[in-house]
Amino acid sequence: MSVAHDIDTSAELSPNDLEAFWMPFTPNRAFKKNPRLISRAKDVHYYTPDGRAVLDATAGLWCCNAGHGRAPIVEAIQKQAAELDYAPAFQFAHPKAFALANRLGMMAPADLDHVFFANSGSEAVDSALKIALAYWNVQGKGSKTRLIGRERGYHGVGFGGISVGGIVNNRKFFGGLLTGVDHLPHTYNRAEQAFTRGEPEWGAHLADNLESIVALHDASTIAAVVVEPMAGSTGVLPPPKGYLRKLREICDKHGILLIFDEVITAFGRLGFGTAAERYGVVPDMITFAKGVTSGTVPMGGVIVRKPVYDAFMNGPEHVIELFHGYTYSAHPIAVAAGLATLDVYLDEGLFDRARELEGEWADAAMSLKGKPNVVDIRTIGLVAAIDLESRPGAVGARAYEAMDRAFHEYDMMIRVTGDTIALSPPLTISRDQIGGLFDGLGKLLGELS
Ligand SMILES: Cc1ncc(COP(=O)(O)O)c(C=O)c1O
Repeated sequence: MSVAHDIDTSAELSPNDLEAFWMPFTPNRAFKKNPRLISRAKDVHYYTPDGRAVLDATAGLWCCNAGHGRAPIVEAIQKQAAELDYAPAFQFAHPKAFALANRLGMMAPADLDHVFFANSGSEAVDSALKIALAYWNVQGKGSKTRLIGRERGYHGVGFGGISVGGIVNNRKFFGGLLTGVDHLPHTYNRAEQAFTRGEPEWGAHLADNLESIVALHDASTIAAVVVEPMAGSTGVLPPPKGYLRKLREICDKHGILLIFDEVITAFGRLGFGTAAERYGVVPDMITFAKGVTSGTVPMGGVIVRKPVYDAFMNGPEHVIELFHGYTYSAHPIAVAAGLATLDVYLDEGLFDRARELEGEWADAAMSLKGKPNVVDIRTIGLVAAIDLESRPGAVGARAYEAMDRAFHEYDMMIRVTGDTIALSPPLTISRDQIGGLFDGLGKLLGELS
């Protein structure tokens, strides 16, 4: 096999052959007929290879909360690459990994103060599920193996994550998945909740379904419940008021671990370091990824409560306590990016900024009410979802066209799932840019058949 040196990989040029890259979560044939290419980014804009500025209304993929090309983060990455490119985290470690773990522990509420590092949200979720199972095992409660997720949940694409996840297309092609998994009902009800800003009034009672699941299986068989505090990928479903607190109470009553998957909601997306803080509910574990490095270097992980960590710290001291980890856990470049990113969030008060903008953001999003085909709008933090009526027999086609035209004709990157448009810009977006985004979207929606 030879390595072709004659292929031009310069960022500014369009590739002349799109075939070899099997793109993830993308209709490959449609994309390759009319590609949406991005070659650079700065602040809240992407740039196409021909130099067109495109407003990033999605923080990449819910990642780039600090905006793009931020000098302190770029410099930290460059410096780290030159200083220490890689060090194993099995049996050895580099100092900055401990510094980042401490910083994350300080950011998380209560005694969530130990951090297990992974490289993505999917790995973070699978790590959390494995920690939950092992936690009960090391305490002699090996019968507690059942995992409870929720309909419409997204927890990445590992076998653990798709098993507890609740999105049918992510599950139905992949066989039997994990055994011993059950699901809570999702919390969305358009008739009761349409056009709600923030947490809906209706729906806290849905947490009581956990009691029914416990009654069916018995708590002695249940290890953990995992939910996204705000379901993101499935179309932005903010939690009903009081729902998460109820889940916590039921988990406490029956001795079940509660995991918040905060891969999207952490690092300011809802105006706080974590959704746990916003809702005043302390889970036993928080999974994170994306915003920890503002998307610059892959990193994920699990923040664990002290008693969970302590439960493993028994037995002979030379023996590994948790047989789990990744070659790139706490990769030096990711750690350096993480530390610099947390500094940017802190120095610029970006979590507070998201909180301050929440009302104006919601007003701007709700201005689309009444536009053609708009059947619901939901907002929370710096997130908005706009549900479009589906075209008969073509679910997703209208929103797909909106995304494609937004990019090519309106210079905006928006995200779609089914017929829902989801918006989650960098926390650095200006008020004017928010206005421009929703004006543009309003025009676009007016033009869509
Ligand atoms: C809540 C949640 N969990 C897990 C993941 C998976 O993260 P990754 O794509 O980094 O594996 C995502 C990704 O969007 C997510 O939103």
